Amino acid sequence: MPNIAEFIQKLPKAELHLHLEGSLEPELMFDLARRNKIAIPFNAVEDIRAAYNFSNLQDFLDIYYQGMNVLHGKEDYYDLTMGYIKKIQQDNCLHTEVFFDPQAHLERGIEFPVIMAGITSALKDAEKDFGITSRLIMCFLRHLPEEDAFKTLKLAENFLPHIAAVGLDSSELGHPPSKFARVFKAAKERGLLSVAHAGEEGPPQYIYQALDLLNIDRIDHGNRAMEDPVLIERLRSERMTLTVCPLSNLKLCVVNSLRDHPIKPMLQAGIRATINSDDPSYFGGYLNDNYLAVANAVDLDKSDLVTLAKNSFSGSFLSEKEINHHIHQIDAYATSHT
Ligand code: ADE
Ligand code: ZN
Repeated sequence: MPNIAEFIQKLPKAELHLHLEGSLEPELMFDLARRNKIAIPFNAVEDIRAAYNFSNLQDFLDIYYQGMNVLHGKEDYYDLTMGYIKKIQQDNCLHTEVFFDPQAHLERGIEFPVIMAGITSALKDAEKDFGITSRLIMCFLRHLPEEDAFKTLKLAENFLPHIAAVGLDSSELGHPPSKFARVFKAAKERGLLSVAHAGEEGPPQYIYQALDLLNIDRIDHGNRAMEDPVLIERLRSERMTLTVCPLSNLKLCVVNSLRDHPIKPMLQAGIRATINSDDPSYFGGYLNDNYLAVANAVDLDKSDLVTLAKNSFSGSFLSEKEINHHIHQIDAYATSHT
């Protein structure tokens, strides 16, 4: 019988919560700074990693937005995306639904088609060269006005066939989902699905707003739902997917220790929770690192891991047929490896 690390390694899985800009490794940051002749306030890769100590979400976001300043040309966005794909290929991740933050690039003068060209050509190669399928999710930055999100949606108009959904990220506290109700409605009218970060630092009320005012198809994080029994029951009965990110939660002090992580109570409550890496370059681990760290901390067994992997496909934006195919693969794997 394989140990937990081996079992996780070969388990077929999907990732549903990943910010491409959060997968920018310090090595690539240096390369791109050199390529684009941009000064960065670090002398070595180790100095960058040493700066990654955060006490809350905003602490991290300040460094995250600074890091992505090295991204300029379409080849930079290609290299960023392909770098991430190569990491998850090693994790036996077969499908990924990735976020990007166009507003953080547009405000630096990068044009929308440049960003899209780099990302989409890497995602196309990911499928061709590695068989990894993907969906792209365009996030609105919630610390900016809704008007700005509308402008971004307009810029995306010619690229809608490449974009599966809109999302909502950045500083949560003080920027409730209600601020973006109109732009999410406009996105729905254009045939886009939607997701939103909610309940990472914000209260359960923000999760209710994401459900009722944004009509989202999936919740990113959702940890604080566990404070509200009525909400827990609603998430269970509506089969709402939560894209949970254990190492992110630890690094951003959403939990004090991984031993306090709510993933097990979520599963026990019948919530469709999934494991994801969020911003792996900043939080110290990719997909399998997250599975393994939380499995060890809260004693997840193989049947929990199988449930999490199945949830990652049933909560995805793949077709019913593709989801069933992956779930059968997981069942076959579980039968032969337990
Ligand atoms: N942008 C990148 N990572 C994020 C996170 N964990 N929460 C909110 N916005 C983000
Ligand atoms: Zn996130």
